[in-house]
Amino acid sequence: MSALPAKYDTYLAAFERILANYCAGMGSPLGLAEGMRYSLLAGGKRIRPVLFFAALDAFGCRWGEERELALALECIHTYSLIHDDLPAMDNDDLRRGKPSNHKKFGEGNAILAGDALLSEAFTLAMTAAKDEPHRRAGEILSRAAGAEGMVAGQFMDLACENDRAAGEGELAFIYENKTAQLIRAPLMMASAIAGKDEAPMKEFGTALGVLFQMTDDILDVKGESVKMGKTLGKDEEENKLTCVRIYGLAEAERRADELARRCRESLTYVEGETKFFAELVTYVRERDR
Ligand code: IPE
Ligand code: IPE
Ligand code: MG
Ligand code: MG
Ligand code: MG
Repeated sequence: MSALPAKYDTYLAAFERILANYCAGMGSPLGLAEGMRYSLLAGGKRIRPVLFFAALDAFGCRWGEERELALALECIHTYSLIHDDLPAMDNDDLRRGKPSNHKKFGEGNAILAGDALLSEAFTLAMTAAKDEPHRRAGEILSRAAGAEGMVAGQFMDLACENDRAAGEGELAFIYENKTAQLIRAPLMMASAIAGKDEAPMKEFGTALGVLFQMTDDILDVKGESVKMGKTLGKDEEENKLTCVRIYGLAEAERRADELARRCRESLTYVEGETKFFAELVTYVRERDR
């Protein structure tokens, strides 16, 4: 198991403070806000806001001031987890070490908590859109989340359950959309805000996001439920299309190593200090949670 990059904790601690403040000020009716806060504050690695802050930092921006878009990223991700766990999707009872949102509050309320978090993300992004670079960052986020992004990946993920004809092409589509879109978005958003070319971070972030989902699939087979905070072995149970289903565990691990190497290589084209990102690739490959 490799350690997190040294500065991860700095970005994480800053984000947790921002999130706690935001949650304290939520104006929704009590039961709705309770459900939203329950999932937002249940923990999680916060890798998307951390990536956003780290990339802003690498580009020399005042990362601690970019609160709204960091929150928007985590709101969208958390909504995607609440809906992903619903009986109509992956039917998971455990998330971030606690009962899933629908287990605690009921299915209808879980759907609404997810809907509200998604809408909150757009209020936050509009609040952040004070100049053209920030408007562009919001546009990157909304595209990454929607019908040509994460939701498209989730749609394909469901379509490929039990579909024995589905193979490598469908798997690549699922990885790039359901997961890599929201991993590369913060990196591209930071590029836009810093006035940098978005392409190098798009390439690095896509590879990192695909690697992140490959290791999620691998950990579903060989991880520990207590560390992951979710029920494992579910992909096989639900007949999900994963790298393990297609290649078997050993070959999936080999491909993940190869992708981690390409991911580090793609950092050559990224401007600024990239040590944090190189260490993060190793963490994502070797993570146990
Ligand atoms: C889980 O995301 C869903 C995937 C894209 C694999 P994370 O592994 O980032 O979940 P949290 O936020 O740490 O709980
Ligand atoms: C979900 O992928 C990705 C999302 C967009 C939420 P998984 O279904 O594999 O994520 P886990 O394993 O439930 O966290
Ligand atoms: Mg899923
Ligand atoms: Mg799931
Ligand atoms: Mg999974």
